[in-house]
Amino acid sequence: MNTTLITGASSGIGEAFARRFAALGRNVLLVARSEDKLVSLCNELGRINSIRAQYVAMDLSQPESPARLFAETEKRGLVIDMLINNAGFGSMGEFTGLDLARELEMINLNVKALVDLTYRFLLPMRSRKEGTIINVASTAGFQPVPFMASYAATKAFVLSFSEALWEENRSHGVHVMALCPGVTETNFFLAAQVKKPPMRATQTPEDVVDTALRGLARSKSHIVSGWTNLLMIEAERLVPRSFVARMAGRVLRPYFGDVNKETGDKTDALA
Ligand SMILES: NC(=O)c1ccc[n+]([C@@H]2O[C@H](COP(=O)([O-])OP(=O)(O)OC[C@H]3O[C@@H](n4cnc5c(N)ncnc54)[C@H](OP(=O)(O)O)[C@@H]3O)[C@@H](O)[C@H]2O)c1
Repeated sequence: MNTTLITGASSGIGEAFARRFAALGRNVLLVARSEDKLVSLCNELGRINSIRAQYVAMDLSQPESPARLFAETEKRGLVIDMLINNAGFGSMGEFTGLDLARELEMINLNVKALVDLTYRFLLPMRSRKEGTIINVASTAGFQPVPFMASYAATKAFVLSFSEALWEENRSHGVHVMALCPGVTETNFFLAAQVKKPPMRATQTPEDVVDTALRGLARSKSHIVSGWTNLLMIEAERLVPRSFVARMAGRVLRPYFGDVNKETGDKTDALA
């Protein structure tokens, strides 16, 4: 049974992907840790669309999870013709002030699990000469981001990895694309334990899914969601990366630096 596998489908962008593809008549397999949310979303999607909505509740940051997930799809007889590697989270603050275990967990989820799942599901897609992989990167992947150093680096990895695989696989019938949202209205900042986000969300998860569909229709290697985000990225290409890093640092330091330069107070942006 042809099925779209969406990781991080219990909220935000992943949930919006699940709703959209179910509405388009595609069977979906949803993955995240929150089983209660996955159960109710699958029930709802299966009821209102004549599709099969299934879930696997698992923590993808655990090293054995991608292999277990792949085996589960084989056991259920699913043909994964579309993989959306969306599960991810961010961390914000001075690198040396962050929890190292959490930083490594983020790298495991945002990078290792994504590479592992891509490898496992790409092989059968290539043999069938058909398939699509969307890897959710970020506008943060285009530049160094002080106070979000490891998060931005994970997304730079996702962007570069996906663009390279786009070229390797397009003659094999498989489209690999990096999707690069900017700040989007989701639980992202909550998950990053930030009380007061430094930037306002300019897009909804549904806008981001619209962008992804446009990117797929145009066989893009990557696509940035939102015109203002795209303009910002294009402008940043014209100046040295050290200048971009300094500017981003200036904007984010009052939120995440040790001391708020304006008031001299410790920031309360971190929960
Ligand atoms: N929102 C933004 O501003 C923004 C901007 C650029 C890029 N992005 C990227 O967009 C993607 C989706 O994030 P979002 O904004 O939609 O945030 P979100 O609402 O917090 O969604 C994150 C999803 O990932 C799942 N997840 C988190 N840790 C997981 C784990 N260890 N194992 C399995 N699933 C896990 C969460 O479900 P459970 O908690 O139930 O596991 C949830 O379904 C992420 O890759 C993020 O980096 C977001």
